[in-house]
Amino acid sequence: MVLYFSGTGNTEYIAKLIADGLGDECVNLFDRIRTNDKSPLYSDKTYIICSPIYVCEMPLFLIKYLKSITFNGNNRVYFVFTSGGYCGSAKVQAKFFSIKKKLKCLGCAEFVMPMNYVANSRYPMEDEKVIYSKIADSTQKVKQVVEDIKNENKLKSRHVWLFETLIIAPFAPLWTKYKLTAKDFYTTNECVGCRICEKACPLNNIKTIERKPKWGESCTHCMACISKCPKNAIEYGNVTQGKLRYLLKDYVPVKSEEKNIL
Ligand SMILES: Cc1cc2nc3c(=O)[nH]c(=O)nc-3n(C[C@H](O)[C@H](O)[C@H](O)COP(=O)(O)O)c2cc1C
Ligand code: SF4
Ligand code: SF4
Repeated sequence: MVLYFSGTGNTEYIAKLIADGLGDECVNLFDRIRTNDKSPLYSDKTYIICSPIYVCEMPLFLIKYLKSITFNGNNRVYFVFTSGGYCGSAKVQAKFFSIKKKLKCLGCAEFVMPMNYVANSRYPMEDEKVIYSKIADSTQKVKQVVEDIKNENKLKSRHVWLFETLIIAPFAPLWTKYKLTAKDFYTTNECVGCRICEKACPLNNIKTIERKPKWGESCTHCMACISKCPKNAIEYGNVTQGKLRYLLKDYVPVKSEEKNIL
């Protein structure tokens, strides 16, 4: 069973390619997280958990959610990360998670995908050439990962040095708590009150009042709201003006029934 969370489509794209290659089911965790559905999972096949990287780790809200559910059927698990290029100590985090859940971790695969973090002033958005090249390289890499998973091989990933883990372990939770906030989101006059941003938020953090979206306290900076707004009517402080919003679906054609979720 392939499980995934995706804010802007990268992880969803890789998860679906892997599930197709394996002939396995693919479960989007969005609804489960949004509705706080903690019903147990069951699969006779190996679990494959696919996650974007936020602040050098898997998103803390996702790990918290995954810790709260029961994995029945088999006890094997692979992890698949998508990042802009640096997965930090996510591999170590995955190992600790597996131990806690009594799962046998068979390794992690890392896919370098386009950077989606429009609300971060440190990251310029990438140009089309870089975006297409990252998607093409990752699409190519899926075949090998699928073969390895079919053969139950250990997946190879970058060695994580101890100093990285020692720096990231205290840094990531603090950064997440104090920097990944919604307080700087606002809408411009282009907003038409369509509520697409509200429906796109995995944490139910947006409420539309009198056709105006209002952001609450729980935000993980997944970039779904700002990137999915059809009117480009969401800005974040003075960081996002004139910056490209990234969605995977703008670069890869998707089947019509998938368009809503990407
Ligand atoms: C809050 C946030 C933090 C991020 N931190 C990192 C990071 O530490 N390293 C990195 O390479 N990419 C980072 N990224 C980029 C994403 O990991 C990357 O674009 C990912 O493929 C997005 O997946 P998605 O489209 O499935 O949401 C970050 C993105 C966001 C929104
Ligand atoms: S998606 Fe954009 S246009 Fe629609 S309500 Fe949200 S901010 Fe307004
Ligand atoms: S408010 Fe926007 S950026 Fe924050 S979690 Fe919700 S959709 Fe993601």
